Amino acid sequence: MTARELRKKYIEFFKAKGHSVIKSASLIPDNDPTVLFTTAGMHPLVPYLLGAKHPQGTRLTDVQKCIRTGDIDEVGDPVHLTFFEMLGNWSLGDYFKDEAIGFSFEFLTGKENLNIPVEMLGVTVFEGDENAPFDEEAFQKWRSLGIPEKRIAKLPKEDNWWGPAGQTGPCGPDTEMFYWTGPLPVPEVFDPSDKRWVEIWNDVFMQYNKTAEGKYVPLAQKNVDTGMGVERVTAVLQGKKSCYETELFAPLFRALDSVRGTEWVSPELRSRSERIVVEHIRAASFIMADGVTPGKTDQPYILRRLIRRTVREGGKLGITEAFCAKIAKVVIDEYKEFYPELEENSARILEEFTNEEQLFAQTLEKGTKEFEKIISKVPDFVKNKVFSGKNAFYIYETFGFPIELTCEMAAEKGFTVDMKGYEEAFAKHQELSRKGAEQKFKGGLADHSEATAALHSATHLLHAALRKVLGTTVEQRGSNITAERLRFDFSHDQKVTPEQLAEVEKLVNEWIEAKVPITCDELTVDEARSRGAIGLFANKYGERVTMYTMGPFSKEICGGPHAKNTGDLGHFRILKEESSSRGIRRIKAVLEK
Ligand code: ALA
Repeated sequence: MTARELRKKYIEFFKAKGHSVIKSASLIPDNDPTVLFTTAGMHPLVPYLLGAKHPQGTRLTDVQKCIRTGDIDEVGDPVHLTFFEMLGNWSLGDYFKDEAIGFSFEFLTGKENLNIPVEMLGVTVFEGDENAPFDEEAFQKWRSLGIPEKRIAKLPKEDNWWGPAGQTGPCGPDTEMFYWTGPLPVPEVFDPSDKRWVEIWNDVFMQYNKTAEGKYVPLAQKNVDTGMGVERVTAVLQGKKSCYETELFAPLFRALDSVRGTEWVSPELRSRSERIVVEHIRAASFIMADGVTPGKTDQPYILRRLIRRTVREGGKLGITEAFCAKIAKVVIDEYKEFYPELEENSARILEEFTNEEQLFAQTLEKGTKEFEKIISKVPDFVKNKVFSGKNAFYIYETFGFPIELTCEMAAEKGFTVDMKGYEEAFAKHQELSRKGAEQKFKGGLADHSEATAALHSATHLLHAALRKVLGTTVEQRGSNITAERLRFDFSHDQKVTPEQLAEVEKLVNEWIEAKVPITCDELTVDEARSRGAIGLFANKYGERVTMYTMGPFSKEICGGPHAKNTGDLGHFRILKEESSSRGIRRIKAVLEK
């Protein structure tokens, strides 16, 4: 079965079970300061899992594009990916465990569905702890469907609990389904630690909200959240050892061959460098399609890392010219049918790849100069010349100069690199940035406090005012709200002058003083558009959306939540205007009481 067939079968199956098909949300979470990327299908649905009414009902299904950047450096082995697609179905206070497991079983084993023999399956259920009891209901349901007791593993929270996605938010026990990929006959007992049992689906029973104090508070609404990785399941069903061996990656490898002028070799013989190149170009193309350009922090930085790593690996493969755009073009062609944003942004994506490759070439040049400078200070008579770990880390950190290159160049000059010192410097730095990231998480997922709702409303007014002052080429490129401030990224290719900023600030404050009610309507994307709403239309919540109106000043498609009246916002003040990345400006602002 191909990935295309899998997606289609899944969506058709859940449609037939009364689910509305929603579109994949952006890879860049809206108004969620706690994570850089959408990491699961449930992520864009958090407000609805917490009880907000979804415009398309209580049963939803979709294919969501996701990025997980946890271990970028692991990517390249046969299993890890940064970008992947997740199939999911949700019940928002509708069905619960019994039906959810029933659906999963039917989809996995049904003749017209995946048609997997029951003997090939094993499942896990939550064994229970001080926060939540043993999941007897899930256990009994699997038994009643014909899964033998020996194929049901009871596991603790670290295995059978999902979420929250950030530090706080909806979460709960889950039941995971595994497929036997080893030689037949299938072992009688399901041993989840045996890697030949591959997880293919996860049903999460979201009945708790984890609070900032670490408490698990039962949710008024019990939800189901499920996730099935398209790449992994495609590989498993095709009997392939790795998703890189499926038809999803073949055209990308072919494009790489054509760049290198090499012959086709079968996917299982592809090298780590080849896998990294195709994987990262796919991920980077999708990130750019959602409006990000390479830069120094946050998503732009991850994007930069992906591209630079690609270029480095390309170098190892003997590629000496800019090549990413040639492969990205194939990514766009392969996926544009499902993700039109790739085609809509194709010119920009291809251009950015080439720009970034050129920029990196300059970086390497600067790094090389610095390297030479450092090394020239060591007198010739010194024996056992060592290039210090501190210096190796310094040129890596400052110029992005890869350590492998430092080692190679050092060796040419008769030096060894103090790798231990390098690793220590690196670990110290990682520890610092991990702490930084934790700070970031402190806001907590889906903080729906009054303060964030007010800042969210102020963001809409800011967006409208910017379009009024700078023109309608201004479009939202990102938004990040904490309880203290808002941060808004938008397209604009020059600095905003102090006069323009003053005018924007004045307009927003006038609109606040007008004390107009903030109202919410549910309507179709077309209706919203025809009423003049702005906002991220392209791949939003599918057919029906919510639109927030603030008198005559602002109309914007958005999931909320918002203040009730602009008069509740307080005084709006812009703290800073700066460049975020090429062609994108960033404004930080606060509301003062
Ligand atoms: N949110 C769940 C997961 O990512 C389904 O596995």
